[in-house]
Amino acid sequence: MGLMNNHGVLERHSLLLTIGILVVVSIGGIIQMAPLMYMDNTIEKVDGMRPYTPLELKGRDIYIREGCYVCHSQMVRPLRDEVERYGHYSLAAESMYDHPFQWGSKRTGPDLARVGGKYSAEWQVDHLIDPRALVPESIMPPYAFLMDKKLKYDGIEDRLRTERLVGVPYSDEMIENAKGHILAQADPNDKGFDYYDSLIGLYEAEAGREGTVEARDWDGNPDVITEMDALVAYLQMTGTLVDFSTYQADDLSNRR
Ligand code: HEC
Repeated sequence: MGLMNNHGVLERHSLLLTIGILVVVSIGGIIQMAPLMYMDNTIEKVDGMRPYTPLELKGRDIYIREGCYVCHSQMVRPLRDEVERYGHYSLAAESMYDHPFQWGSKRTGPDLARVGGKYSAEWQVDHLIDPRALVPESIMPPYAFLMDKKLKYDGIEDRLRTERLVGVPYSDEMIENAKGHILAQADPNDKGFDYYDSLIGLYEAEAGREGTVEARDWDGNPDVITEMDALVAYLQMTGTLVDFSTYQADDLSNRR
């Protein structure tokens, strides 16, 4: 009975009642949120996930600069039509190193989360130079100028350090050798030769599986590293890091 009598006090004072409501309602919120504050990471790493190589990161920056996200999403939803068209639905871990993520919802063009390896690099280059040469009904704008733009990567070390600030595990060795790694991934036979083993070794160790880093001349012009090289290196990697022939959603063994 005592409790019921005191309740009358609450009901007659709007400020007290408001405070009372806030206290009661926030209990549920605290129960949900408090444990997250004590976890280092809320996304479990999956085998194959690694930070972007410096060349891929530059390509991703060009993707964002050119506004490709205005027409393309990068997230396969766990719905049957999406999975049949694009492949395995996107995992949270697959965008854990994306700052900012490119999920999006605007699809004037197809989703690109798994476009890596769907076509050859030559197709990607030809398509970016003149989309309608390959897909006559396409409304995608041409990006031929990327072939003429030499890739600028003077500040690449600072670019990696910035990613590290927000949690991407770039090691000191990765940062120190970043320029060499760009050469190695875009020009592995010539100027980048000396850095090739370091590129593959460092990034595949972080991935926890082999074959996640591809190095080649991407744009068909081996004389100069262009923005086209970087963009196509990035596109050809998207969605390929996790090996879905062995991945099982409820198998904890491929989480790290
Ligand atoms: C105005 C909208 C628009 C913009 C901006 C745009 N695209 Fe597209 N894109 C499309 C459309 C529509 C298609 C489908 C027709 C085709 O293949 O050309 C497409 C297709 C593609 C494909 C082939 C996908 C597949 O699975 O067949 C790739 C790769 C692609 N775009 C990459 C890019 C990149 C990279 C950029 C930025 C440099 C970009 N797009 C900017 C509209 C756009």
